[in-house]
Amino acid sequence: MANSFPLDNTVENFAVFGNPVKHSRSPSIHNLFAKQFAIQLHYDAIDVQPEQFEKTVKAFAVAGGKGLNITVPHKELAFKLCDILTPLAKTCHSVNTIWFDDELNIYGDTTDGEGLVRDLQNNHEIKLVNKRILILGAGGTVPPVLLSLLQQKPESITIVNRTLAKAEVLVERYKGYGTLMACGYDQLEQQYFEIIINATSASLQGDVPPLSADIVRHSECCYDLMYSKEATPFLKWADNNGSSLCIDGLGMLVEQAACGFNIWHGKMPETSSVISAIKANNSL
Ligand code: ATR
Repeated sequence: MANSFPLDNTVENFAVFGNPVKHSRSPSIHNLFAKQFAIQLHYDAIDVQPEQFEKTVKAFAVAGGKGLNITVPHKELAFKLCDILTPLAKTCHSVNTIWFDDELNIYGDTTDGEGLVRDLQNNHEIKLVNKRILILGAGGTVPPVLLSLLQQKPESITIVNRTLAKAEVLVERYKGYGTLMACGYDQLEQQYFEIIINATSASLQGDVPPLSADIVRHSECCYDLMYSKEATPFLKWADNNGSSLCIDGLGMLVEQAACGFNIWHGKMPETSSVISAIKANNSL
């Protein structure tokens, strides 16, 4: 098994597992973080099929790998595989950061929500306390984001989804953590939110969730958890319809990576220079 990972034994080895993962910025981000502390490491992006996920994580650990980032579509599989979970990962059913002990026990945490909150608050100076927040979508990306946002004591969070039942399940599961509501897109009339977060996968099909232009005009910020070289379809649409601030998920990506780096190395990297470097050089 160890042969599947010809790791560089002169340094510590890390990787991101996803499918697809070819365009991942994580190797560049972690190499930039490592430079800040003169840490030598090797970081790979490895495409793993869901059926191979468990075997591949274990093979990486056996070969001496130190830590993994987990991205789409493996975060729930990672949650199921971990022997020891942080309370947050356990509550969210989602793991994006893995590490091992000497007995090769697998540890898991999720830093996605903290990454979003750090990006909003530290990089964009957006206060979350007492805000009305709208989350679009109710898929697997939502629970970590929801929990971390609720920790900042917003007035309320509304989850809107095409399939209302999925939003209702999330509200039922997490209602003990704050003021949560579920609704369908046709129930948003006359409702206004300071912060609108797109957590749908609509952009992957070039689509935009069916929101009214009125709702974005009254918002303080529209945020897309996704990022791409061009503005995402949602942010393009929000900008065209009068949103005062449009933010994509690149900052969140760097911030969640910084939290993961801190778990592995016990050092919190500086992020703003890394966000600028990644933005400036799309091929990094
Ligand atoms: P995952 O769990 O991996 O995040 P998912 O369960 O497919 O993926 O979730 C994708 C989310 O994007 C869902 O909330 C989906 O809405 P439905 O639950 O109603 O399917 C949402 N979504 C996808 N395409 C959309 C579109 N064109 N407009 C609005 N919402 C969309």
